[in-house]
Amino acid sequence: MSRRPSALDLPAPPPELAAISQRLGERIGTIIERDGPLPFERYMAMALYEPGLGYYMNGLHKFGSAGDFVTAPEQGRLFAIAVARQVDEVAARLADPWTVLELGAGSGALARDLLSALQNPPARYRILEPSAALREVQRATLADLPAGLGDRVEWIAAPPSEPFDGLILANEVMDALPVARFEIGPDGPMERCVAVRGDRLGWTVTAPRKRLGEALSTLRERLGYRLPEGYVSEVCLDLGGWLDTVSRPLRRGALLLVDYGYPRAEYYLPERSAGTLVCHYRHRAHFDPFVWPGLTDLSAFVDFSACAEAGTASGLELAGFTTQADFLLGMRIHELIDEADDEASRMRLAGEFKRLVMPGEMGEKFKVMAFTRGLTEPLVGLAESDRRQAL
Ligand SMILES: C[S@@+](CC[C@H](N)C(=O)[O-])C[C@H]1O[C@@H](n2cnc3c(N)ncnc32)[C@H](O)[C@@H]1O
Repeated sequence: MSRRPSALDLPAPPPELAAISQRLGERIGTIIERDGPLPFERYMAMALYEPGLGYYMNGLHKFGSAGDFVTAPEQGRLFAIAVARQVDEVAARLADPWTVLELGAGSGALARDLLSALQNPPARYRILEPSAALREVQRATLADLPAGLGDRVEWIAAPPSEPFDGLILANEVMDALPVARFEIGPDGPMERCVAVRGDRLGWTVTAPRKRLGEALSTLRERLGYRLPEGYVSEVCLDLGGWLDTVSRPLRRGALLLVDYGYPRAEYYLPERSAGTLVCHYRHRAHFDPFVWPGLTDLSAFVDFSACAEAGTASGLELAGFTTQADFLLGMRIHELIDEADDEASRMRLAGEFKRLVMPGEMGEKFKVMAFTRGLTEPLVGLAESDRRQAL
């Protein structure tokens, strides 16, 4: 049985890519026929991470303007320079040797530009990247680094088991963690699952799994109101486990998480009734996760209140929460525009700055959350604008 995508007005992929998507769709369809409706969380995990076929695993993912979306480090060097200033500031308080652990490094642009911009590069720059295909892309990107820097980089497939001092960085990783979807029905919350509908995949609802049911009860308590009937949204059930696992080896230092998201009260506003799940296919955002599985990025906004609670429960100290705009301004990247050597560079930097900082672009939608362990002083990039009270 073929698993044709729904007919959204999107450009069709070439036949060899469509065939990969079809194979993934068939694999998902076979599981549904065997086991019944698939929780959306499992569908999203397969659509992104199924070995050889998922969006991040099939080696087809293109970065930057040739791909499906552009992240902050791929806009240019300003974002990496800002992060480098924060890393230098924290590293000055740590004893040598210290380490940077970057989670989910994508194209490797942040690693390359950060290592080049650091005044005091770490002894080791470790990249935790689950995708073998992306590890190869990152190796190629980092091949440009001079030997003294390039040979500090190493790849790991699981969080390090030995404790280390340093910084953990994750840009746009949490939005790629699979989420459970729910819908408020007439008799209470239901779980949105994936079913086979003729030769297509589509939505169905079932009683929520125990874990989701418990998470939704806690959510209702914390919100202090009932979400209205028909409301659809997401919960990342694995956020706490993920954060705990990746942060456990951090003995002393900081964790910097950058992503799009909201504090809980804003995430679950009654009027945000269609949730935050978004699909990206060749620079077009849409809301049908069943179109071209494996060729489409699926992501959901981050509930930063849940993230703050999870980090604190893992013994980290919540050191700051602000917008990307305020973080970048706090790191004074605007001064780099005036320091440019020529007019063409000045114009390019001004354009990049605008995309990173303007409220209608990435500036307000993206947030920066920092945790620390064993540090007493605040982090410079988050000291000026503190939005923790909104969490
Ligand atoms: C949207 S991309 C962001 C890439 C990069 N950080 C950037 O800003 O351009 C998401 C990245 O997270 C990785 N990823 C997904 N799940 C992960 C996990 N559980 N741990 C670490 N990385 C993960 C993906 O393979 C991919 O490299």
